[in-house]
Formats: sequence, structure tokens, C-alpha cells
Amino acid sequence: MNEHAPTGSGSGPSLLDALLRRILTSRVYDVARETPLELAPRLSARLGNRVYFKREDLQPVFSFKVRGAYNKIANLSADERARGVITASAGNHAQGVACSAQKLGLRAVIVMPRTTPTIKVEAVQARGAEVVLVGDSYSDAQAHCDRLAAETGLTFIHPFDDPLVIAGQGTVGDEIVRHRQGEALHAVFVPVGGGGLLAGVAGYIKAVLPDVRVIGVEPFESDAMYQSLKAGRRVTLDHVGIFADGVAVRTVGVHPFQIAQIAVDEVVRVSNDEMCAAIKDIFDDTRSVMEPAGALSLAGLKRWAAANGCRDEHLVAILSGANMNFDRLRFVAERAELGEEREALFAVTIPERPGAYRDFCVALGDRVVTEFNYRLNGRQEAHIFVGVGIDSRRDAAALAGELNARGYETLDLTDNEMAKLHVRHMVGGAAPDVRAERLYRFEFPERPGALTKFLDTLGGRWNISLFHYRNHGADFGRVLVGFEVPDDQEGPFGTFLETLGYPYQREVDNPAYKRFLTPGA
Ligand SMILES: Cc1ncc(COP(=O)(O)O)c(C=O)c1O
Repeated sequence: MNEHAPTGSGSGPSLLDALLRRILTSRVYDVARETPLELAPRLSARLGNRVYFKREDLQPVFSFKVRGAYNKIANLSADERARGVITASAGNHAQGVACSAQKLGLRAVIVMPRTTPTIKVEAVQARGAEVVLVGDSYSDAQAHCDRLAAETGLTFIHPFDDPLVIAGQGTVGDEIVRHRQGEALHAVFVPVGGGGLLAGVAGYIKAVLPDVRVIGVEPFESDAMYQSLKAGRRVTLDHVGIFADGVAVRTVGVHPFQIAQIAVDEVVRVSNDEMCAAIKDIFDDTRSVMEPAGALSLAGLKRWAAANGCRDEHLVAILSGANMNFDRLRFVAERAELGEEREALFAVTIPERPGAYRDFCVALGDRVVTEFNYRLNGRQEAHIFVGVGIDSRRDAAALAGELNARGYETLDLTDNEMAKLHVRHMVGGAAPDVRAERLYRFEFPERPGALTKFLDTLGGRWNISLFHYRNHGADFGRVLVGFEVPDDQEGPFGTFLETLGYPYQREVDNPAYKRFLTPGA
């Protein structure tokens, strides 16, 4: 598969021996717990492999980061301890350091950008750390942290580029091996930011079970380890996407890179939509919600297993964290179906005439319509934005082919980021050509056939000038529809509404309609 980043060779056994010794002598269990390795039954059945989750989201700070931070801090000299510790982080490392310092009774200073959400500031303060808010970005915070460390003698705790931090993270590998108790283990998937967790886990596993594959996983938009292994040197990315903020790192660490070169089999990259789908998979099996970086390893596992045609293999995904911003759930839910290849988005051109809508729905067959956006914009043709439930990407391509063959010009927008983020919400506006428009809001039962029933009852008698529907997985589909109904047709139109039997509300007097959807407003 072309996702491989070829791994180079390094100074081999002595490096791994030293790491193994550090892992076996590390101190983490004063603050971290030994987390379970759980079979994911639903996902295993679906993928035809035994998939296990290493539940690092169950740590007291909801991520594995406390292991490395504690091991580093617990190994400081008495003098260093007396002076206290400092780090720059707005994420899981900050909580790991705060929690570790509190346990050991040390002073901890955490430098964060001023833009850090209050909830994260408070979480760190609640663990007794002093928070310094400075600058607008992580690099401002890092620069200030360096200055403070030099001035005050506080010891800087690096989030990944430190042998003791790596060793602490390596205890995750030790637990995985022990929990398998000699049973089959084919591959372990590890999320990668600066590479501390990957180095620790790969180092341990290659030292004790060299045949087990260790596979790093990165988002396409922050793939510093993939690029570095490919180039044979550490590559600094110009910029990184921050959807998976836990792993948004521009340069991997010196130590992690050295270890990854000799102990990591490959690095797989995944899209943000695939991470969203993985969050949903994990939720389905565990009822727990991961942050994007926390589900990254599973997204990589799924991609790798599909690309290699794996069956009956025993695969482990490290669920590394669950510090999820609640507000993000909306985006994750929106994207999960796309990431799972269960929804395709198309722009389709259909004739602008009564009944054309229904014909188009017939052409879709028994596929579920997940979204339908349209606003009258001419008398010849109608451009609709439509979402359709699919089984696979191949199914989507086949459907696009079928629609084109039936004369519906079809453009596949499933991978079009602008369309997914913006255009779907902007279809429409005022329609200068519209005549005698009546606007109604309906509640459709959320089940297959509801839209067809609506169109059948309408029977092509009145032209549809606006249609907005998005499946939100609610009990009812909320649909906004505009009809062109001349005054002398009001009677039959009223009968149509009653016959349909769906709850509805007239919206022509709604000020939002007047302001945004009618011409000359
Ligand atoms: C949830 C989560 N997963 C993965 C990582 C990546 O760890 P590393 O930087 O050691 O590669 C982090 C780092 O903070 C994280 O918070």
C-alpha cells in the first residue's frame, strides 16, 4: 500500500535495550492506572478481525499523558524537585504535569496561550498548578515558558522529546503485551504527535515480541513522522491542521524519531472524516466519546486492515484520550457518515418542472435521501444538492454513473471540503423568478419512503421552488418547502396538505423568509 513510509535503520539493539530498561524501571502507577485491553465486539464482527481497544481514555486525566509526565517528574533530583516544574501546553500534557506535580507536592507552572478555553485553564488550576496566560499561539506560550524556566530555575518537562517521558508512555506497550497473556497479537496501532507514545510502545514491543507490527497513525494534515521517516531526517511541516489538536505537531522529537526509525513498521495517514467515523465506532462499542486524537489509531487500523485485506487478525488500537470539546460533537456527527463511506454528496441538475423531483427520487431507487437542498434559480434547470446513503465509495461512483446515464448531470461533492462546510448551507437565497410562492415547514417521519409519499401526494400539480432537508437522526425530519401555487389553486392545495397528513406550519409571514428568501427585501 502506498501509505508506507519506509523506515530506516539506526543504532539498533543498544538503543532499544536502554529504552526497555527505562520502561521496566519507570514509575507511573502512583498516578496512572493499568487500563483494560477490551475486545470491541461490534467492530470486530464488522471488520472480520479481532479488534481490541487499549482504554487510555480511562486514565484519571482522560489520557495516557500522565504516564510520561509522572515518570519524568518522579525521577528529578531533590534539588530539581525543590525548584518545581514548568511546561507550555493547553492540552493533555498540561493536565499530566499538573496531576503529577500535585501528587509529588511540587510547584507546577503551566504556560498557555490566552486563547485557551476556560474549561482547560480551570482543569489545570483544579490540580493545583499555576497558570500563566500569554500570547495568542502555542509558540508564544513556548517562548515565554523558555524564558521563565531560564529565569526561575523551574525544570522544563517536555511533552515527548525526553527519554524518561518516552519510557513512561512505553508502559502502555508493556500492559498490552501482558494483557494478551501469550495469545495472538498481530499489530498495534499508535497515534502520533511528537512521537513519544509511538517510540515508547514500539520500543517495548519490538524488544519483547519483534514479530508484532507497530504502526503509527497520523492525520494527513499533520504527518510529520510519516514525512520524516520517508526523508530519513526530521522534517518540519510548514503548517499543521489542528482538528486532532493532541497530535498537531510540526516537528517530531529527536529521541522519538531515532527510535521510530528502528522500531516502527510503517505510518498510516487518515482523513479527518475517517477520525470522525472512528469516534462513532468507538462510541458504538463502548458508549464513550473520544477526542479526535484519541480515535486516530482506530481510523488507521481500519484503513490498514482494508488495504491489506486482513481477516481474523488480532489488532490493537490505543485509545489515547477523551478530552473532547462538547461543541465539536456536532461536526463529528456530521462527518462520521462520510468518513464511513455511508453517505455521498452530489450536485445534480434536473429539469425545472412539476414532477421532475419525483422522477429524480424514483431514479435513486430505494436509497435513503439524507439531505436535499434546492432553491429555484431559473426556468430551465434546477441544481440540487443531495445527500444519499451508500454502502461504499464504489456504490457512490456507480450511482453517479447511473444518474448521468439517465440524463441527470451529476457532480460528486463527497470530497469537496468547501461544499461540505459551506455550500450545503448556502444553497438558495432570493429567487427573482419565483411566482406565487407559499412557504411551509413540515415534519416528515424519519423513515424511508416519507419523501416519496410526499411527492406522490403532491402528484406534480405544483412546482417546488425551494426544498431544504437534512437528516439529523432525530425522530422527525424537519423540511422547509416552497410551492408555486396560483391563487385559484388554493382550495386543491389545502386539500393536498390535509391528505398528506404530516404536521405543517405556514411560513410566508416569517420575517426570516422575507429578509433572505424573497427578492427585493
Ligand atoms: C490524546 C492524544 N493522543 C496522542 C498524542 C500523541 O502523543 P505524542 O506526542 O507522544 O506522539 C497526544 C499528545 O498530546 C494526545 O494528547
